[in-house]
Amino acid sequence: MTADRIPDGAVLLLGGRSEVGLEVARRIAPGRDVILAARRSEHLDEQIATLRGVGATGVFPIEFDADRTELHAALLGEIADRFGRIGVAIVAFGILGDQARAEADPSHAVRIAQTDYVAQVSILLGLANLLRAQEPRAGGRGAIIAFSSVAGVRVRKANFVYGSTKAGLDGFVQGFTDSLHGSGIHVLLARPGFIVGAMTRELMASGVKPAPFSRTAPQVAEATVHALRRGRRVVWIPPVLRPLYAGLRFVPQAIWRRMPR
Ligand SMILES: NC(=O)c1ccc[n+]([C@@H]2O[C@H](COP(=O)([O-])OP(=O)(O)OC[C@H]3O[C@@H](n4cnc5c(N)ncnc54)[C@H](OP(=O)(O)O)[C@@H]3O)[C@@H](O)[C@H]2O)c1
Repeated sequence: MTADRIPDGAVLLLGGRSEVGLEVARRIAPGRDVILAARRSEHLDEQIATLRGVGATGVFPIEFDADRTELHAALLGEIADRFGRIGVAIVAFGILGDQARAEADPSHAVRIAQTDYVAQVSILLGLANLLRAQEPRAGGRGAIIAFSSVAGVRVRKANFVYGSTKAGLDGFVQGFTDSLHGSGIHVLLARPGFIVGAMTRELMASGVKPAPFSRTAPQVAEATVHALRRGRRVVWIPPVLRPLYAGLRFVPQAIWRRMPR
């Protein structure tokens, strides 16, 4: 992918109601079709109107439950048949889950792992197959955006189930990106910190304060799209989290285990 160039083709948002995913889609939608893959896809009027409002040429909802990994290949095949070339796939589905509940009820922990790790692995590999089958063009065969989190860089006691899925996903995407080197498929790994928004709303309502260097979904999307345009492979949001987390790796465990959320 060349500087300031986003591959030709439609935008595919997996997690069609994701606050961050929609903000990213809004920024690259003008002049392109957008496919919103989501659960309850018949209830996406607001999202469709927003994307049409910014100049998407067409917005198409499609039913998608990330946890049904056995249906991923067929869904991606249907998307390729119906919508043609995909320029950018944004993998933005995810759940925060409830750490206390996960510790008491392992089935809840498994659900978090299923959505935030297993389903991501399945869809990312499926997307690579889909993009590989596309003709190469000046902007490449296509781009994939994956969302990790600093929660996975050094996992904390307070959210180790969610954090561990992000640690796994982050490692997966690093190797996945290298495996696609030279293929014309560009992968961007976003590592945001705490986002004040839909996913963390309940947490904040329970009294948890936003972590230092918190950002909003539009700020995260802006940084992500900027990194995509520049052909970057990894983006920390905000950038200061990179040196901060490099240092946090060296905090002794006896202190780390007392870290709040
Ligand atoms: N928010 C943060 O603080 C933060 C920080 C770092 C990284 N991230 C990551 O950034 C990404 C986007 O998060 P966000 O802030 O945009 O969260 P969000 O607004 O809560 O969106 C997440 C979306 O995932 C969808 N989803 C959950 N399970 C699904 C499933 N089984 N099948 C299909 N869709 C499913 C939800 O759809 P429904 O409407 O159907 O429930 C929801 O719209 C996630 O990977 C998240 O882990 C978030």
